[in-house]
Amino acid sequence: MKIISLEDIERNKYTKDEIKKFFDKTVVIPTETVYGLAGRTDNDKILKDIFQIKRRPSNNPLIVHISNRNMLKTIVKGEIPNEYNILMDKFWPGPLSLIFEASQNVSSVVKGNSMSTVAIRMPNKPGLLKLMDILNTPLAAPSANTSGQPSPTQIEHVVNDLGEKVETYIDGGKCELGLESTVFMHFENKNYILRPGSITKEEIEEVLQQPVEYKTKASGDVVVCPGTKYTHYSPKVPVYLFVGDKFVSSFKKQMEENATKKIGVMIETNKFESIRKFVDEDSVFLLGKNLKECASNCFSGLRHLENKVDMIFVCGFGYKNEGAAIMDRLEKASTKIFE
Ligand code: TXA
Ligand code: MG
Repeated sequence: MKIISLEDIERNKYTKDEIKKFFDKTVVIPTETVYGLAGRTDNDKILKDIFQIKRRPSNNPLIVHISNRNMLKTIVKGEIPNEYNILMDKFWPGPLSLIFEASQNVSSVVKGNSMSTVAIRMPNKPGLLKLMDILNTPLAAPSANTSGQPSPTQIEHVVNDLGEKVETYIDGGKCELGLESTVFMHFENKNYILRPGSITKEEIEEVLQQPVEYKTKASGDVVVCPGTKYTHYSPKVPVYLFVGDKFVSSFKKQMEENATKKIGVMIETNKFESIRKFVDEDSVFLLGKNLKECASNCFSGLRHLENKVDMIFVCGFGYKNEGAAIMDRLEKASTKIFE
């Protein structure tokens, strides 16, 4: 197992052939959202390895990463909806995955052996885009965690989780955004967010000048992300989530009921004062002063506390802007929600 740095790739420390050789197997790559476990989309053996290494159900499709829009031509079938052109102009490279009809070139392994569509995004990480230009092939990459665990936002998280199962890790530092991309689909003239993420519903509505609906649970004809039906983002210890304006009283009550346990707390910096007197300050992880900072620290907070405490208490957010994506992850991570 070796860890190489994205900066060294950007500085041309490795030859093109050396880089291509790394990608004869799965490789851990940094993106601006979370680390991914990547495989070339033209090699089914490597794609199958991704599922095995992550212990991912084989019917959960992968996101395909491209470095330039020419790559779309070989992957997408039919005409691209105008809404997608507008969104690609505005948000690519960036944390927005779009669901396209897949051409016959797309391996059924990528499509989870079940979909006719494929999710595609262009990551906003210049070194990674350069690397993909060298490989000259799209990379399929799910988040680089064992299925069910919080997504990794630092290389140490991935090394601890996957260890010798992967030969090459590319270190790109801390992922700036910290939550996965928004998964978006335009279907029968309507717009759906299938997974909330760093690009918000409000931002998409503003750019398209059209309404957008969240669609995270199956109903009707609209396909949801197969991934959302599995347990997700769960740390090793129970997580209690406290929501609503009156969270302080239920928080205090649960602190008392669990007095024999070591409790870790995740909370927005400016809400900390309201619970300070009930908690051990050494076990508090302050998420940040605004929604962007909180999104960026959410998974690393869970990973930091899970090894130190018996339970994690998290104080929730509203659903506006980045709050929707943070709450999506926290609700899935929690064993109990107190309103
Ligand atoms: O930010 C991200 O999107 C990260 C980085 C590595 O790019 N990747 C990521 O991949 O989060 P993953 O596999 O952990 O999540 C992909 C989600 C899953 O819920 C999957 O079911 C859904 O996207 N998905 C993939 N292809 C789809 C498709 N054709 N239709 C609907 N949902 C799809
Ligand atoms: Mg994932």
